[in-house]
Amino acid sequence: MSTTVELEELDRKRLLHPFTSISEHLDQGPLIIDSAEGIRIRDRAGNTYLDAMAGLWCVNVGYGRHELVEAMRAQATKLPYYHSFASMSNQPAIELAELLTAMAPGTLSHVFFANSGSEANDTQVKIVRYYNNALGRPAKKKILSRQGAYHGVTLGATSLSGLAPMHAIFDLPLEGFLHLSSPHYYRGAEQGVSEEEFADALAAELEELIDREGADTIAAMVMEPVMGAGGVIVPPAGYFERIVPILRRNDILLISDEVICGFGRLGTSFGSVHFGFEPDLMSVAKGLTSGYIPMSGCLVSDAVWEVLRDDSVARGPFSHGYTYSAHPIAAAVAVANLELMRRDKLFEKAADTGAYLQASLRGSFAEHPLVGEVRGIGLIAGVELVANKETKKAFDPGQLVGRRLSDHLLRLGLVSRAMRDTLAFSPPLILEKADVDEIVGIFREGLTLLSQELEAEGIWSPAG
Ligand SMILES: Cc1ncc(COP(=O)(O)O)c(C=O)c1O
Repeated sequence: MSTTVELEELDRKRLLHPFTSISEHLDQGPLIIDSAEGIRIRDRAGNTYLDAMAGLWCVNVGYGRHELVEAMRAQATKLPYYHSFASMSNQPAIELAELLTAMAPGTLSHVFFANSGSEANDTQVKIVRYYNNALGRPAKKKILSRQGAYHGVTLGATSLSGLAPMHAIFDLPLEGFLHLSSPHYYRGAEQGVSEEEFADALAAELEELIDREGADTIAAMVMEPVMGAGGVIVPPAGYFERIVPILRRNDILLISDEVICGFGRLGTSFGSVHFGFEPDLMSVAKGLTSGYIPMSGCLVSDAVWEVLRDDSVARGPFSHGYTYSAHPIAAAVAVANLELMRRDKLFEKAADTGAYLQASLRGSFAEHPLVGEVRGIGLIAGVELVANKETKKAFDPGQLVGRRLSDHLLRLGLVSRAMRDTLAFSPPLILEKADVDEIVGIFREGLTLLSQELEAEGIWSPAG
């Protein structure tokens, strides 16, 4: 058995960590998480933390759920693996597809399974291309997305994403991926403009872009109902009511990226259900298995499905798929996970606890001089820190103010996630109101420490 120090050393020596500064990691080393139960994780030294991020926005049912472990064990014993190429299938995958399509909004009727949100979104890009090729519209291929969006890290998914640091070093985005403005009212709207007017402006921007590029060159638009990794951005009132009809009028497919918003995060089955729109394509991952095992899915509407089906008569196979598509163990875990969510009414619970979380965060911090905006819906929330509350001036990115707060919170036993200077929360859906009080209490303590530190350094003062 290795000691913690030996493991830390080996980690530095052997691991390339995702979204981590290599030099900083070599300097500071890893935090090795060892076990978890409910909403809490524990490190090798025995420190426990309230995981208010549910891992990476994914452990919806919380840690240590024996129902999921048992489903995994039983399926691994019976059939640990078989592929789904060339018409091969397995019972859990079939049952999962039935469950998912029954839950999904609109006419989403078929599911393609993959292993991550990135793969699901990459697959959507390919389905959209296939669809338009099959319809004899080879020029209708561009895909619209938004600044601040996060859709994953494969070449296609990175291109869909609208976060500059993900693009430059990798020579991305690929050609044909266009980004509209972020629907962030607090940052994007001019003084005195209402949310509805801001939504009008975003809709006008979309129409102008379609006019400029030509509807016959634009295949799809992808949207997270609430943007997650871009800073928990809730679109302005009336946004989808304006955007969706424009897409419909121009025969542009709507891809809802529900990788975070799916499975209860907003207090509903899916984000599109919360906002009342019906996507043509929908990506799911994370909460699908509560992160216990990798799995994702692309849900496809009847209309898109029919085009693919008809084209296959002459073309032959749908030439896309992963070795682990429809993996039987992952599918069995997902079925057990969805059953657990249904049994324990976790979407309803998330709506209830989520309303309490939103009210508590706003009530406690909206007036704080360091806080520019508190935002979110259900169990996803963001608190944006600003250098000047009056003018909304942001801190210099080099001051790493958000990161400093998340470090304080971690030391105080709370896991959050800093995205620039927005601190995100996305806790397991099993969270209780007393846990919300604990989050708020620790956050208050962290904010006080940060304020004192920034004042002492002369970076900030409550007077503005
Ligand atoms: C909205 C959204 N889409 C896609 C992804 C990519 O998922 P994965 O990391 O499983 O590839 C993420 C991951 O955070 C996400 O938040």
